[in-house]
Amino acid sequence: MTRPAASIFFLATLLMAAAELRLGERRPWPGAEAGRPALIFAGEPAWPAGVGPRLEAVGAMVVISAEVPAGKALLIDGRGILRRKGPAPESAEEAVAFVKEWELGRASFLNRCARCHGEDGADTGSPYIRALTGIGNRMNAMPIRAKLFPTVVQPDYITARGEPFTAQELDALIVFVAGL
Ligand code: HEC
Repeated sequence: MTRPAASIFFLATLLMAAAELRLGERRPWPGAEAGRPALIFAGEPAWPAGVGPRLEAVGAMVVISAEVPAGKALLIDGRGILRRKGPAPESAEEAVAFVKEWELGRASFLNRCARCHGEDGADTGSPYIRALTGIGNRMNAMPIRAKLFPTVVQPDYITARGEPFTAQELDALIVFVAGL
């Protein structure tokens, strides 16, 4: 008799935990340092070998938090804003790539999109523009991609909203936009 009730309670707790972890939202993450992006892992299982020094070498850091579901990882920026969620990287290289892809997307966004959308995507000064804030909570990567009207001009030369990208740059841009 107690088992179904316990499972429902467990499920509800999980759903609540998931609902709280919203992209683009800022909250305190004990152990994180202002000004440094951090990859946050659940305490168990252990994070990949050597990941701390590898992330430090690229200006980021590791934080452990019981609030992260097992097997997942979160990326926060240097202000504690949740920018990316994903499966926990299995190696230090994957962990660095997870951070670097977001950073590549940020560089493109600042160069090619921020003049209208603002550095954080929140500007609504241009005519007909909507804030991009929290867009990754409203839709996943596929519809975000569609909203950029990608056009393949040549292999590895794709325009999105009129701006040119390589396939890798466009994937990274979508990762970044999802975390605004
Ligand atoms: C010249 C100004 C301008 C530039 C540059 C620009 N945008 Fe926009 N963007 C807009 C306007 C205006 C809208 C709203 C109308 C529309 O959807 O076209 C918009 C809409 C969007 C939307 C859809 C938002 C929604 O909720 O439906 C996304 C996503 C977006 N832009 C991303 C980008 C990205 C990424 C870049 C850089 C590659 C970019 N934009 C460059 C002006 C701009």
